[in-house]
Formats: sequence, C-alpha cells, structure tokens
Amino acid sequence: MIFAVAATTQTRKWVEAFRSRAPDLRVDALEDVPNPGDVAWIATWETAPGRFAPLTNLRAVFAMGAGVEKFLGRDDLRDDVALIRLNDAGMAVQMADYALYAALTVLRNFDHYDRDKAGFTWRPLRPRSPSSLRVTVLGLGTLGGFVAARLAERGYTVSGWSRSEKQIPNVRAVHGADSLDRLLAETELLISILPSTPETRNLLDARRLALLPRGAYVVNAGRGDQLDLDALLNLLDNGHLRGAQLDVFPTEPLPATHPAWENPALRITPHAAAFTLIDEAVEQMLDKLARFERGEKVEGLVDRTRCY
Ligand code: NAP
Ligand code: GLV
Repeated sequence: MIFAVAATTQTRKWVEAFRSRAPDLRVDALEDVPNPGDVAWIATWETAPGRFAPLTNLRAVFAMGAGVEKFLGRDDLRDDVALIRLNDAGMAVQMADYALYAALTVLRNFDHYDRDKAGFTWRPLRPRSPSSLRVTVLGLGTLGGFVAARLAERGYTVSGWSRSEKQIPNVRAVHGADSLDRLLAETELLISILPSTPETRNLLDARRLALLPRGAYVVNAGRGDQLDLDALLNLLDNGHLRGAQLDVFPTEPLPATHPAWENPALRITPHAAAFTLIDEAVEQMLDKLARFERGEKVEGLVDRTRCY
C-alpha cells in the first residue's frame, strides 16, 4: 500500500519530509506510482476533475490545507474515503499576523499615510488605542479562535462568531445566524476566517456589509465566495467603509482587468495570509494517519454534511 503525494508545488520536498519521518511507510509522488490501485492514502492539494478516480482503493485524503471545499461534492471521490484537513500546521500564527496588520493599519492610520503619500501630503494623525477598536472575528475554529485570542491578548475589544457556542478568554463569543446582524452593526474591524460552505456563501452580501458602521474596515482571509466583492467596492467608493484587506477572491488569481485592483481603499494580497508549513504538516498528517489506521478519533476529519 502506498502513501501518495501530489502537491501543487514542491512535491519532492513533501515526499522527502514524509520519508525521513516515516521510513517504514512507502511514500511516492503520485506521478511515480505505476499502479494507482496501490494508493491507500494521499496527501494533496491537487484537485483537478477526475484526479481521484483511478485511486480505486483509496482510504483517506489528507488535504494540504485547512479549507476543503474543493474536495467536496466530487464524482471522483467516494463518501467512504475519509477526508482529513490540517489543523493549524503553522498557519495560525501567520493568520494572526495578517489580522494584526489590518488592526494596526486602522489604529495607526497607515492606510491614510499610503494615500497621503500619493499627494505629497505630510499629515500626522493621532493613533487609537487597541481597546477602543471593536473587532469581530467570523469563524472561531482552529485559525479564527487563535486570531481572536491573540487580538484580545493585545488589548483589542474582540467579539467572535461561530456556529456553536465557544469560550475564549477575553473574547465575547456569540453564535448562530440570528446574532450576526446585530454584531455587524457594532463592528469597526471585521475579520472573516470562515470556511466556504453552502451557509457561508455570500454571507457578507450588500445588505450585511451595509450594516457595518460608517468608517469600518473589512478583512477577508476565509474564502472569496463569502463576500460580495462588488458590494464591497461600492461601499468603499461611496465612503461608507474606510478600507478593506482581502486575501481571497471569487476568482483566483484575481483577473488583471478587475476594478478591485485600482481601488485605493483596498489592500490586495494573493491568497497568502497563511501558508501550510511542510514540516509541521507532515508531522501532523503522520500522526493523523496512525490514529486513523488504529480506528481512533482524528482531529480534522471533515464532516461532509457540514462541509468543513
Ligand atoms: P475550522 O477550524 O473548521 O473553523 C471554522 C469556523 O467557522 C468554526 O468556528 C465554525 O463554527 C465556523 N463556522 C462554519 N460555518 C459557520 C456558519 N454557518 N456560521 C457561523 N460560523 C460558522 O477552520 P480553520 O482551520 O479555522 O480555517 C478556516 C478557514 O480559513 C478555512 O476553511 C479556509 O477557508 C480559510 N483559510 C484561509 C487561508 C488563507 O491563506 N487565506 C489559510 C488557511 C485557511 P463551529 O466552531 O461552531 O463549528
Ligand atoms: C488555504 O487557503 C487553506 O485552506 O489552507
């Protein structure tokens, strides 16, 4: 039985990392496997249509990331194949830095200085204190929970939103669809770290974005389909929103002709908020593989009905 690897880049590096940690496991790049029927497990982020069809004896897919929407609802992946995602694997700290970058932008007016520079304007602005900024983190899972806790440790006034009830020190955690509108109405910095599911798709639509108070700042590091980009651009253009920092887009890469590129109030990052770190990920996948094969509970086993 083979543990196959098919990354989008650096497949060899992944293979070496697996082999050095698990010398007794047969690990090969998928492209080097002569008989796909020998593959029992695969670590991958490669999801071209039909990719999994030849792997007729597949037992588990280890996603090389946290968001698994592209592994769901596929004709080529049987429902009895376990789908196991990464938990953190070095991403949480990066995600917290990404959120903090936006929070500091707002507090310290770095966005205003970027724009002032274009007009040769020297205009020092008084900073705000972290506690004066009302931040809301959407999604309090592995990444969002860490981000919310980090921001709270730094003194921000943090609320968080999830499906189920949560307790995070110094974070006001609320849950359930009914609570979202009220929360948005009092949010000055909104940070979405939600997965893509049928329920989160277009969650931040024109109506909900308009509930944010005038001058609010929006961050999306979850998935592009949860935010109406046109509505966001309108609210930036008409001055209702102060700015936004987006890492994820409805179409990636964001097409070069898209008006978002030219919006001065929008900071764009190319789906780079948090990278999977290979060593951490391989360590975690091997631990999950061992638990899976022993029939034990595996953290990150995707619930296909919830879609995350
Ligand atoms: P996770 O542990 O599964 O957490 C997801 C969170 O979202 C949970 O708190 C969950 O609530 C909440 N949630 C899901 N559906 C909801 C709904 N309908 N209403 C309210 N809350 C809902 O996932 P994670 O590891 O934190 O990752 C989150 C997402 O970040 C990934 O799915 C991916 O899309 C994105 N991501 C982006 C990057 C990047 O570089 N931009 C990198 C990694 C991940 P419960 O806790 O109640 O279940
Ligand atoms: C990256 O976006 C991930 O989901 O890990």
